[in-house]
Amino acid sequence: MFTTVPGIEDLVVREISIKGFRVYSWHKIGITELSGRLIVETEESVLRSIRNFRTIEKAYLVLDEGSIPGRDIEALRRLISSIDVDPIVDMFTPYMTFAVRSVRAGDHEFTSMDISRLLGEKLRNSVRERLGFYPIVNLDNPDIVVELDVIGDRYVLAIEIVHRSLRQRSYRVFHHEATLNPPLAYAMNMLLGYDRYGRHILLDPLCGSGTIIIEGLHYYVNSIYNGVEIYKHNCRGALRNIYEAEVHDRACIICSDSTRLSNFIRYCDGIVTNPPYGIRMRTIDDSLRKFYIKILCEFAKVLREGGRVVIISPRRGLIEHAAHVSRLEIVEKREVEQGGMISTVYILSR
Ligand SMILES: C[S@@+](CC[C@H](N)C(=O)[O-])C[C@H]1O[C@@H](n2cnc3c(N)ncnc32)[C@H](O)[C@@H]1O
Repeated sequence: MFTTVPGIEDLVVREISIKGFRVYSWHKIGITELSGRLIVETEESVLRSIRNFRTIEKAYLVLDEGSIPGRDIEALRRLISSIDVDPIVDMFTPYMTFAVRSVRAGDHEFTSMDISRLLGEKLRNSVRERLGFYPIVNLDNPDIVVELDVIGDRYVLAIEIVHRSLRQRSYRVFHHEATLNPPLAYAMNMLLGYDRYGRHILLDPLCGSGTIIIEGLHYYVNSIYNGVEIYKHNCRGALRNIYEAEVHDRACIICSDSTRLSNFIRYCDGIVTNPPYGIRMRTIDDSLRKFYIKILCEFAKVLREGGRVVIISPRRGLIEHAAHVSRLEIVEKREVEQGGMISTVYILSR
């Protein structure tokens, strides 16, 4: 089971397949389409390469999956007593610590704490019975993390196989207040839909700390990326991240104002970007509306004919209006979760 940004589950499957692994089957789990959890049946060698995948946040080995026989605490007790924990018990040695975590979504008469508590008790007793010692619970830094998720009428029992979330990139030495989640930045670059081995000139005109540029250069391995950012300290920070990510030979940061983009950029093949959406730039008023129109009109001026823009914002109305004014055609849109709220990723074409 992989967890990812809700809304880009299909791109996780695509990334694995692009990197040469076969995916035999996959499905999302969740009560909504935006669950961010998918179960993939794939080659075992994928497990050894997990750290190289850029669209996933966490990875688990699924031990059991099925439907829960009711919505009350008795149904939960019945489920937990029917679960075979022997494969987990076999992993324990003395002094090894463990934690049980749980995600619950839907209409139930029990909480995620009940799930963790009941499964935790069963595991402790089973280890004691079979191995002769009680395992130690450690919620902060456990050796083994067992996860039992109950989502609607489905449950999944799994073991965590990467401890640190893969969204924490080692290149991030400079932190921006509105950083885009790196797996989402990578997925947006995939959505641009260009040949990843082609030589493209790409642009993030509102680049902040450079996440889209760095993730994009990992995907488009022969391309170059320009970034524009209005604040000097962000430009310096983006450069530091870019050096740390070792993609500095293909990236360039320009400290300037993208509402005048065509004054200093002449051409690009594609744009991937994450504009400000109003928390700092006053609320959804005329100034933000004008800003979106200005930047999209500038994008249309510098983008080659047939070129694409991938842009994310929770301000659907503003993007759609600005796309109309700038004559950029909306070819696709999809909802994703960004920092706890629903945003839309648009693919526009010139
Ligand atoms: C939402 S943030 C982008 C964050 C970025 N994707 C990251 O992961 O760090 C938008 C950025 O646009 C910059 N910005 C706002 N107005 C701008 C303008 N007119 N020209 C260039 N950059 C601008 C802001 O300073 C901010 O860093």
